[in-house]
Amino acid sequence: MHLPSNLPLIILILFFGYLFKETLSQSLQNDDLIFPQMYNEVATEIETTQSSEQIKTLQSSIDTLNNIILETRADRASLNEIKNQMVEWHNIIVSIELKNLEADNRLKTQLDLGDIWRSYNERIAKNEADLEKLRQENEILQRQARNDAIMIIELNEKLETQTLLSSECLKWFQQSGAQPSGCLLVGQKTAILTIQIPGIQDPFSVLCDADVKGPGWTVIQRRLDGSVDFYRNLSDYRMGFGDLNGEFFIGLDKLHQLTMFQQHELLVRLQFFNGSTQFASYDNFIVGGEQQDFALLSIGEFSGSAANGLLWNLNRKYTTRDSDKDQIINRNCAEDCHGAWWYSFCGDTNLNGKYYNEMISRREDSIMWAKSHNIKVVDMLIRPKLNRS
Ligand SMILES: *[C@@H]1O[C@H](CO)[C@@H](O)[C@H](O)[C@H]1NC(C)=O
Ligand SMILES: *[C@@H]1O[C@H](CO)[C@@H](O)[C@H](O)[C@H]1NC(C)=O
Repeated sequence: MHLPSNLPLIILILFFGYLFKETLSQSLQNDDLIFPQMYNEVATEIETTQSSEQIKTLQSSIDTLNNIILETRADRASLNEIKNQMVEWHNIIVSIELKNLEADNRLKTQLDLGDIWRSYNERIAKNEADLEKLRQENEILQRQARNDAIMIIELNEKLETQTLLSSECLKWFQQSGAQPSGCLLVGQKTAILTIQIPGIQDPFSVLCDADVKGPGWTVIQRRLDGSVDFYRNLSDYRMGFGDLNGEFFIGLDKLHQLTMFQQHELLVRLQFFNGSTQFASYDNFIVGGEQQDFALLSIGEFSGSAANGLLWNLNRKYTTRDSDKDQIINRNCAEDCHGAWWYSFCGDTNLNGKYYNEMISRREDSIMWAKSHNIKVVDMLIRPKLNRS
């Protein structure tokens, strides 16, 4: 076998080729580039090259390869640079993103703060509106209070004048030896007053009331506690009986004289054992004289919270235990009802009936007003009708 003369060179080239292959494969191991393929081609060429021409070509190829390797190295360097650059950019991007995130959070916080601020402002506005409303209401109340105070002062002045007038009048009456004719003179007082009226010979005492419903009322009957017996004869009922500081009846003669010649209102106040109070008012109360058997000649118009208890008594004569003038023959309502009244039929209204100091089931002889019983206190009051226009 003839060995080629340039065998050592070929071996050298193959050695370098191998060396280069190793280096290249090592350096390109991780890079997905075209060099492995080129290397394979060159290596194949080297293996099959037999001539110096070819070796020259190979040498130039190696040069080229070297250049490529150098370039590649340069590329790798620049790649690394790019990589580094990219890493740097990535870091910059990340830091920018971080900053953005931070800014977002700050923005969100600011938005949240904005919401809080807005609702806070709304609340303040609402509070201010409420305050303004309260201030206005307060002003109105203060104005009212001022007006009330002025009115009270004016009323007090009027009252003083009136009281002065009435006390002057009373003084005048006392000095002149004459008597006042009714409770209107007493003014704002509840007191016992001596009066004198036409038709009644002697002056007599009456209870004037300013507590039940304004001044000027004369109390004509009162039941309080059962301490006075109301089951009496006509003579007693004509004259009147009882105690002005307790229970009493004024008397039919006086009632006739008081109501016959001047229009009078009648006020009935009922206080029940259950604590409730009711009123019955009549605007023209007239009691007839002896010739008319003290009949209830008029009651006028009724008003009030109680029932119209005198409805069935109008035009009825006065019946006592010894003077039966009621509508029932062979029966005396005064006896059945243990009282005295303008009875029509028994068992309706009976303010002079028997006093029961407790709640009772309905009894015909008890104090009654239009069938309502359990009456604890009752007052009958009259006052000259004042013409208000
Ligand atoms: C009426 O009753 C009284 C006692 O309350 C008595 O003093 C008087 O005599 C009686 N009058 C008549 C007419 O019965
Ligand atoms: C009290 O009794 C009277 C008479 O029976 C009745 O009209 C009134 O409604 C009662 N009031 C109460 C609060 O029970």
